[in-house]
Amino acid sequence: MYYPDEIIEEVRLNSDVVDIIGSYVHITRKGGSHFGLCPFHHEKTPSFSVSKDKQMYYCFGCGAGGNVFSFVMAYENYTFVEAVKYLADKAHIDLPEPEVSAQVRAAMNYKSRLYEVNKLAARYFYMMLRKEYGQVALRYIEGREISSDIMKQFGLGYSTQFRDDLYKHLKAKGYSDKELFDGGVLLEDKRKQGTYYDRFFNRLMFPIFDVHSRVIAFGGRVLGDGQPKYLNSPETQLFNKSRNLYGLNIARKSREKFMILVEGYMDVIALHQAGFDNSIASLGTAFTGGHGHLIKRYVDEIIISFDSDSAGVNASLRAIPILKSAGLIVRVLVMNDAKDPDDLIKLKGRDSYEQLIKQAMPSFMFEVLQLSKRYDLKDPEYKTRFSEEVAKKLLAIEGKLERDNYTEAIIKDFNMSREGLMELLGKYGKNIGIVQKKHINADLNREEKRLKQREDAVTIAQKEFLAIIVSHKQIFNKVNKIITPDYFNHETLQKVGLIIYDMYKKDLEIEPTVVMSKFTQIDDQKLIAGIFGEEIKIENQLQLEKLLNDTIRSIKSNYLEARQKTVTDPIGLMELIKEKKELLHLYVSLEDIDRRD
Ligand code: UTP
Ligand code: MN
Repeated sequence: MYYPDEIIEEVRLNSDVVDIIGSYVHITRKGGSHFGLCPFHHEKTPSFSVSKDKQMYYCFGCGAGGNVFSFVMAYENYTFVEAVKYLADKAHIDLPEPEVSAQVRAAMNYKSRLYEVNKLAARYFYMMLRKEYGQVALRYIEGREISSDIMKQFGLGYSTQFRDDLYKHLKAKGYSDKELFDGGVLLEDKRKQGTYYDRFFNRLMFPIFDVHSRVIAFGGRVLGDGQPKYLNSPETQLFNKSRNLYGLNIARKSREKFMILVEGYMDVIALHQAGFDNSIASLGTAFTGGHGHLIKRYVDEIIISFDSDSAGVNASLRAIPILKSAGLIVRVLVMNDAKDPDDLIKLKGRDSYEQLIKQAMPSFMFEVLQLSKRYDLKDPEYKTRFSEEVAKKLLAIEGKLERDNYTEAIIKDFNMSREGLMELLGKYGKNIGIVQKKHINADLNREEKRLKQREDAVTIAQKEFLAIIVSHKQIFNKVNKIITPDYFNHETLQKVGLIIYDMYKKDLEIEPTVVMSKFTQIDDQKLIAGIFGEEIKIENQLQLEKLLNDTIRSIKSNYLEARQKTVTDPIGLMELIKEKKELLHLYVSLEDIDRRD
């Protein structure tokens, strides 16, 4: 890991979970815990609890849970290291510099100089907008009905008509030509090598932020007409066009479960101003798989809302497969009365845009709709060809239920003959072997499902076993020779087991959050929160005894079976048979356990 355990522990001890979560979510005290509305799913009655004793949170509604690090990671979409840094900063704890080679350090230093260049440039543009010669840009902004709050939030600025004022400003602050050029704010004179001037002049400036809200580049718009309409920073060490999206630094914190993808800077700004804080744009470049995966980190669904012209439609058709292959559910917002979202909101208001979001089409239906425009459906011959194309598209859908639903929708929307379409589906389906293949798939799925269910049962057993021993030390003492973490097949649970066994051996108190701090992945933390969240009480000794024995049997027999697959030597096999027999007769009684444990 990046930081030593002691430092992480110090940060955690100085970041009270109730204080930190309380600064994000309204929670009120009830008994030993605090309760509030869960920030990770929509709900009307509070099922989100925060425990001061355990220094953990848990939502009974959606299962979100963890310690103070998990919370910050989930809420801010931070990595573990980012969460540690953030909390250390809040608690005024100085983190040690991570150990890196001189070469890496030099590169990091250079990169941080480039960040500074961009930050200072953004500040300069921001200032110029408020100066005498910025008036022209300010009037332009007002003409486009951008509020001053939004102007500030997006850090809009102005590059003056002078071609070297930014250059001079930054040189005076000690930055070299090379640093300024590599930061992307300068152009080199083609005729006179080594001579530089400002890349942007007399433009309205849009700083481009990365997800951590650091300025990494700019877009600049001409005030009025002129070419090119927008000028963008080149790709630099900081700015990779297919790994950044305009507005994502804000949209990633939106409470919406989907994002809206638009074409331009101004669309993002207009949408945010209208309250759609989940809007993002790709930056004047083609949409890439990198963008798709970036979005998928934050949401599962995306609504494409490109311009209504044919360029926008074609761009949507290109973006759909890319977004889908990133695993996103894709819908397309269709606009007839305006050329882009910015326009629509000005003409028709935010509510009508909201309405269009609700009506956004599944991407499949959008594709079929566009396909239909290529055929004159009044002509029977063209209609047949269209039907053939549609049948092929339908057959490309994997799930039967989904395919059936779309088939029905298409019959209805395009007024198609059911028999005709079914016949085509049968014909093409056989040709490409889809019908038979589906059967095999169904069988395979059953087998997979069976295996998975079993696997789940074993995983659950491991979780329950840990939950029992965590809350009852006496039971641990009884069973720690019968089951060891080596028997666990779940990687994370095995690690948790090792930590717990080790803590008991050292006679330490088992603190959930200490265990959790050793894990940096939010999924792992959630799993662990589940173990500690559902503490098992000895209310009914017999029930607990049964549960304990069931989990032991499940874990051990699964372990023995796995071993059977690899052991080949006779002695090993004898051992195995003996252990299997023993397992049949194994029973742990809890009769002598003190109930007040
Ligand atoms: P648009 O031409 O649709 O611009 O380009 P827009 O966003 O509606 O801008 P306004 O409303 O006229 O001010 C969409 C996006 O394509 C990129 C920009 O990112 C722009 O926001 N683009 C466009 C360029 O990079 N360069 C250009 O010359 C034009
Ligand atoms: Mn526009």
